[in-house]
Amino acid sequence: IYRNYCMLSKIDSLVKQVEGFSPSSKEELESFRLSYLGKKGHLTSLFNSFKKVPNEQKKEFGLAINNLKNLVQTKISSLKPLFTEKKTGPKPDLFKPVKNSSLGGRHPISIVEQKIISIFNSIGFGISDGPEIEDDWHNFTALNLPEDHPARDMQDTFFVQIRPDVLLRTHTSSVQVRHMQSNKPPIRTLSPGRVYRNEAVSARAHCLFHQVEGLYIDEKVSFSDLKQTLLYFAKEMFGKKTKIRLRPSYFPFTEPSAEVDIYWGLETESDYRITKNTGWLEILGCGMVDPNVLENCGIDPKKYSGYAFGMGIERIAMLLYGIDDIRLFYENDVRFLKQFN
Ligand code: DAH
Repeated sequence: IYRNYCMLSKIDSLVKQVEGFSPSSKEELESFRLSYLGKKGHLTSLFNSFKKVPNEQKKEFGLAINNLKNLVQTKISSLKPLFTEKKTGPKPDLFKPVKNSSLGGRHPISIVEQKIISIFNSIGFGISDGPEIEDDWHNFTALNLPEDHPARDMQDTFFVQIRPDVLLRTHTSSVQVRHMQSNKPPIRTLSPGRVYRNEAVSARAHCLFHQVEGLYIDEKVSFSDLKQTLLYFAKEMFGKKTKIRLRPSYFPFTEPSAEVDIYWGLETESDYRITKNTGWLEILGCGMVDPNVLENCGIDPKKYSGYAFGMGIERIAMLLYGIDDIRLFYENDVRFLKQFN
């Protein structure tokens, strides 16, 4: 009887241990399992002792042992998930086609630049390139703007500190100088690129913008060639019905010089505002290359003549898309950029 009493109280204390068990690792749970359910565990030894229990007491002991066994098993199955890594869903299908990811789009400046380039490409203009950090000679002197020439003030310049004659180019006209120096006529070239001016940033002006320069040099190039080329450009760019007019103007590197307007119309209130009540809008500057410039660049002005023109890409883009603040081009606001693609 005494022995049996000891066995019951042992089961009791094991029940309490099981109930209070709280492992902190997978390993601790496993050694708990072995110590109860393993071959040499508590339950095996209890079942062995059970064989010696007198028949009339077997029921009571059997219940107690089974109760302990169930308790251990439910305890283990409730703790197990805490230490097994969860598998999330089925394995990914590596052969599935990828979802459409959204692609970036082209910047409006680049769209307009490409359009200008393709119009002039179609009439035989190639592309030429020059440095953005330029020297005074290519940016000014060679273009008939010697030192102290008052027209230098038309383009407020950023100078680079390393040398007094090094600057950020104020226009892409510097590229026509470089191109004439290293090519012989006939020349038909377009030079797109970034330019810099030391100007206060506002809705209308920026210290950085983009230009396209055009240059055509050959024998007997006339002002009417220039006019027809620009008319063709304006129609391709702004529509077949576009009209242009040329107003006399002044640029040191061309003689005669002109500014070209397109007829915009006077239908809406904003037409009056942007055309200053005239209906006309300026789109570019142009002229016949000054003989001094040809000479400076090693081309014989007695044999050759040519025309040149220059336009701001931002300005054209603002007209085409109805954008009223130049700063929008440089802010990279996706809400703005998304509208062009
Ligand atoms: N370089 C001028 C500017 O930045 C634009 C220009 C005017 C270029 C007339 C030309 C030209 O080639 O002939 O304001």
